[in-house]
Amino acid sequence: MALPHVFVARRIPDFGLEKMAKYADLDIWPEQLPPAPEVLRQKVKNCEGLVSLLTDRVDASVMDAAPKLRIISNFAVGVNNVDIPAATARKIPIGNTPGVLTEATADIAMTLMLAASRRLTESCEDAKAGRWKTWEPLGWIGQELQGRTLGIVGMGRIGHALARRCHFGWGMKVIYTSRSPKPESDQELQARQVQMSELLQESDFVSVHCDLNETTKGLFGAEQFAQMRSHVVFVNTSRGPVVDQTALAQALRSQKIFAAGLDVTDPEPLPPTHELYSLSNCVIAPHIASATVPTRNAMARICAENLIAGLTGQKMTSCVNP
Ligand code: DGY
Repeated sequence: MALPHVFVARRIPDFGLEKMAKYADLDIWPEQLPPAPEVLRQKVKNCEGLVSLLTDRVDASVMDAAPKLRIISNFAVGVNNVDIPAATARKIPIGNTPGVLTEATADIAMTLMLAASRRLTESCEDAKAGRWKTWEPLGWIGQELQGRTLGIVGMGRIGHALARRCHFGWGMKVIYTSRSPKPESDQELQARQVQMSELLQESDFVSVHCDLNETTKGLFGAEQFAQMRSHVVFVNTSRGPVVDQTALAQALRSQKIFAAGLDVTDPEPLPPTHELYSLSNCVIAPHIASATVPTRNAMARICAENLIAGLTGQKMTSCVNP
């Protein structure tokens, strides 16, 4: 019997592709850049499965172009690139890859906290450019983490993993906002759930870990930055549109806040001419939070399991619209 056609929107680790290839006839997009929307629509025409990435907008027009589509397996934990109501209305399950990128993402949030607070990219660039003239008693002075207050916005798996690092490693006090109470964080980390205004006013470090949805879009704007302390280091490893970047640039330029560390931006990639790159107190990484060998392999494994389960009518490892 012929295997079902599946379009894979970019080459993902072989670990996942080899599993998928036992159950499906794979058409793997070979380019570095994602397929354009019209190419994606064309590619899925005869497909029963689609492996999408966070760079692929999978909307109703893509689903309508694929009348046989039975499963969308997203190679990411975030699914804001997929129109969930449209898929649900068409009874198409959407798989994602939660859990396995928790530690790698918390590591990058930690890295950005340290790099931004200690002015690492700015001072390294100065050294390389010959601006390191002598040991500077007053130069490149940063902030310390020890004993300070960390405000976590969205105390899910990743927020908790960062809070654990900061509490046990740096003795930080943890406060957080969340849709629901988190007794395990309260107990293990002596963390405390607070209102957003208290978090903004009390934190020395703010790290964002919420999903992107209609309620979190633009969550951090001028009003929020105005409430923060002037030594705050702001970190975002969730999704770019959660932050109003014009307001962030203004807060950094005017030193309303001390520094920012971003692994996500809006758009991605952020154009090299964007103002945020010109600000020495802004550290920007190109969305690398999950970019480690074990994490990407684990994401590929779950992505393959979800695809195969969707094609064979089994229970998926992780489905966002069961
Ligand atoms: C995800 O899986 O949502 C991450 O942003 C990828 O790094």
